[in-house]
Amino acid sequence: MSQKTYSLATIVKLNNGLTMPGIHLGVYLTSGNETYKAVQWALESGYRGFDSAQMYHNERDTGNAITDFLKSPKNTSKLSREDIHYTSKLASNSDYETARKSIKKSVRECGLGYIDLFLLHSPYGGKRARLESWRAVEDAVEAGEVKIGGVSNYGVKHLKELLESKPRLLPAVNQIEVHPFNTRTEITSFCQQNGIMVESYAPLARALRMKHPVIVDLSRKYQCTPAQLMVTWNCQHGFVPLPKSTKKERIAENADISRITIEESDMKTLDGLDEYLVTDWDPVDAP
Ligand SMILES: NC(=O)c1ccc[n+]([C@@H]2O[C@H](COP(=O)([O-])OP(=O)(O)OC[C@H]3O[C@@H](n4cnc5c(N)ncnc54)[C@H](OP(=O)(O)O)[C@@H]3O)[C@@H](O)[C@H]2O)c1
Repeated sequence: MSQKTYSLATIVKLNNGLTMPGIHLGVYLTSGNETYKAVQWALESGYRGFDSAQMYHNERDTGNAITDFLKSPKNTSKLSREDIHYTSKLASNSDYETARKSIKKSVRECGLGYIDLFLLHSPYGGKRARLESWRAVEDAVEAGEVKIGGVSNYGVKHLKELLESKPRLLPAVNQIEVHPFNTRTEITSFCQQNGIMVESYAPLARALRMKHPVIVDLSRKYQCTPAQLMVTWNCQHGFVPLPKSTKKERIAENADISRITIEESDMKTLDGLDEYLVTDWDPVDAP
């Protein structure tokens, strides 16, 4: 565990030598103008990473918000497309051709020219669909449609299956639910031992434990909000959190963590809150 501090300027290095932001905005369960506004507020606050998916039906809204921001007077840092990191995900694993077409559709939908990180959203569909869909991701990377390939909701057995298939590309990322109330140590340890970056979704535990007494006490101690405490806990574990909010103030608040360093003993206390709290779906044991 590192004791350095984290912020929207934090960059992490992946197993393919490429880098990405250390904190991204999640846009799950947002749509239309709500997504558009959240992404623009986030860009104004300094976010450079955005986590969308085919299943969220907001790839276009997210892409448009980014494109419009880059062209607008609000782009005071003169950012270009290359400064932004955009993620999307394949809704369902299937045969190679279907997956390949679906990735191309996502690239068109976002209007950003390419996708920085493309994930298989879940391991559902069985071994053959997983491996064929992964081959489609590899070819999309080779074709320049996608820069980085990864997976999501993969348990250790799915990761082993992919690694043992001798893929042309190793998954750079596994995006899974992680927060102090669901630490998923077995999966995160396997990822870290194998050079796979853990992206933590629902890093705020979907706001279900903001009033937990340990969270409240430690937030007081570090003079931060419960959300900032949980984002910092994720970063200090070496994970990349994707906090979601549609509120301008919270978007800024959630990543404003550069003055916070959680002491080792308090990290352990937070680790001890694990209760396998699942806030959404839980495909990590899928056959
Ligand atoms: N790969 C997957 O299967 C998967 C699954 C789930 C999520 N994800 C990704 O991970 C992202 C984050 O996960 P999530 O959206 O499920 O949960 P989350 O980020 O843990 O929590 C979001 C919830 O917390 C509230 N919130 C945000 N900031 C707050 C603050 N400072 N104080 C109090 N409440 C606050 C939000 O409400 P307001 O919007 O009203 O602020 C929203 O209800 C998603 O958006 C998505 O990009 C991926």
